Amino acid sequence: MSDRKLEESFTSLEGCMNEDIEKVMTTEVIHDFKNILTGILGNLALAKDWSNEEDRAYPFIEAAERVTKHANQLALQLLASARGDEQILQDMGVSRVIRNSVELMVSGSGCRNDVKIHPDLRMIVGDETRVAQVLNNLLQNAVQAMPDKGTITVRASNVTVTNESKFNIKPGNYVRISIQDEGTGIPEELLTKIFKMHFTTKKDGSGIGLASCYYIIRNHHGTIHVESDVGKGSIFTILLPAIDKSDPEAVVQDVELHTPTGSILVMDDERMVQQTIGDMLNHFGFHVDFASDGKTALESYKRAKERGNPYRAVIMDLTIPGGMGGMEAIKHLVSIDPSVKAIVSSGHTNDPVMQQCDMYGFSASIRKPYNLLELKKVLSDTMN
Ligand SMILES: Nc1ncnc2c1ncn2[C@@H]1O[C@H](COP(=O)(O)OP(=O)(O)O)[C@@H](O)[C@H]1O
Ligand SMILES: [Mg+2]
Repeated sequence: MSDRKLEESFTSLEGCMNEDIEKVMTTEVIHDFKNILTGILGNLALAKDWSNEEDRAYPFIEAAERVTKHANQLALQLLASARGDEQILQDMGVSRVIRNSVELMVSGSGCRNDVKIHPDLRMIVGDETRVAQVLNNLLQNAVQAMPDKGTITVRASNVTVTNESKFNIKPGNYVRISIQDEGTGIPEELLTKIFKMHFTTKKDGSGIGLASCYYIIRNHHGTIHVESDVGKGSIFTILLPAIDKSDPEAVVQDVELHTPTGSILVMDDERMVQQTIGDMLNHFGFHVDFASDGKTALESYKRAKERGNPYRAVIMDLTIPGGMGGMEAIKHLVSIDPSVKAIVSSGHTNDPVMQQCDMYGFSASIRKPYNLLELKKVLSDTMN
């Protein structure tokens, strides 16, 4: 490029707001950070899978898993604030979000969990990342309120609010989610303060958790309230406006992978992510090949097909910095093999490709970071 051209492109960059560039850079760094966490979490899950609860290392693996999950939760929050995210509301089921949050925040904490989701649960209109943030905050508080451990019970059901209801909210149909702990409880005089920004009774607390829950729920036209008994525990209840569709994931289907043999191609530029996904797929019984960008993936796919040993599925990262990402690669893949089974994977859950992956040629999408069960489910949906 000539100096003059360079000069021009710099000048056009000047036109962008510095703030925007900062925002994009920060977002990218947090994404990379989340990818690293995916790698750590995946390896820890495998380490746990390969060891017994009696092993001396087991509690340390669990502790590492717990703090990494916490880091992951913080990364999600950072991401939301770095993007200055406007909220994106769409039809969503809360049951998957509830199960993920419980898996993220409670398993490995030493507390037990009991998740009771009504099989006919309705869907809501919401921003999935934010609803997850609310649940993560409430679950984290519940875990922290139980130094002597105990059970956290999460319930989700449909309710109809009438004019006579105790909830100060517009009458109509709602989804109610409650999170109950057996912890310290909250003294009555504090009940009106806990939702205030920066209010905390913890030595290293930030007092941001409940304030952000309140803010998010209010922006979803819902309500949140709390009941508590000192020494017995607390129950936080959220109501979110329901729509006339039922949540297909309210009932968990136990998935089975039929014939987990053959090869799967994984495209991701992060070695750590490659290794983790590779190990998970090996664990199921698949052979795995890797590509670090779309170009290499396309070559491998073509070669395997020509050899008469085609890949059973391809898992692709949506974006690859400085290379061809899944978004571009899928177009070529579909023309090489219209029946390709491609799964798009990303932490950018609000990306239109993740939302409506079939419109772009993908068979399914999976949100990073994912665990063995989620990967198994998406593979069974795509390949069975
Ligand atoms: N489940 C709970 N049990 C007991 N106290 C709670 C619970 N959830 C929240 N609190 C109280 O509310 C305060 C504010 O919570 P939060 O906004 O999440 O901030 P932080 O967790 O950083 O203290 C906590 O410090 C605690 O005193
Ligand atoms: Mg908190």
